[in-house]
Amino acid sequence: MIFGRRYFEEIFTKEDPWRYFSCEYEKGKYVRQIEAVKQYALHPQNILEIGCAEGAHTLMLARAFPEASILGIDISKTAVKRAKENCKCCQNVNIIEADIIELFKQAHFPENTFDVIIQSELLYYLFPELFIQLELIHYLMSITKIMKNNGIFVTSNQLNVRTRPALGTCYFILQRLCRLVQNSEYKEWYDIRCKYLTYDLKVFTKTK
Ligand SMILES: C[S@@+](CC[C@H](N)C(=O)[O-])C[C@H]1O[C@@H](n2cnc3c(N)ncnc32)[C@H](O)[C@@H]1O
Repeated sequence: MIFGRRYFEEIFTKEDPWRYFSCEYEKGKYVRQIEAVKQYALHPQNILEIGCAEGAHTLMLARAFPEASILGIDISKTAVKRAKENCKCCQNVNIIEADIIELFKQAHFPENTFDVIIQSELLYYLFPELFIQLELIHYLMSITKIMKNNGIFVTSNQLNVRTRPALGTCYFILQRLCRLVQNSEYKEWYDIRCKYLTYDLKVFTKTK
């Protein structure tokens, strides 16, 4: 794996490597994702955050949705240790160290479990290997399966020459292939499809 465990452990030798706790730009991005969840998922009970890093976004989700149970997953042991510490004040947060690809291969989560799956700044890290092995399709189908009906998949990713083609492919496959899963269809919400200058924000809803 190009961006595997070792790669991220190396990054997390530095605390808050992407300045998720201090950077206004990052905070703004989280706020917009939370607004999207509030707009499209009524009273979410179960939220899965894939690639939660040190828990900056997790903490904001926990406060925005105190009634929901939030599960954060990250491949980095160091990040997970810090995320647990950063979120220890929140009773509704659980954080585990795991490779999401492996969890999906093991069908770790029961079907129809999550109202919201949120994944910020991760698709393009997963993409190269997923694409080569055609595991991207399996990955996106797993997301669809573990989502409840009317559940939403929220993803926000920085846009640049490297990430644009990868993201375009991911979104295309998500729209086309996920309808094969459980007769579900994906509805993309065009009104928040608007492009911010440096990142996009997409919400896909699973409908029967
Ligand atoms: C660029 S950071 C984004 C963090 C967070 N989502 C945010 O936007 O603030 C990507 C995170 O995904 C995690 N990650 C990368 N590959 C993963 C995998 N296969 N399974 C779980 N987490 C992964 C990394 O350890 C890192 O914390």
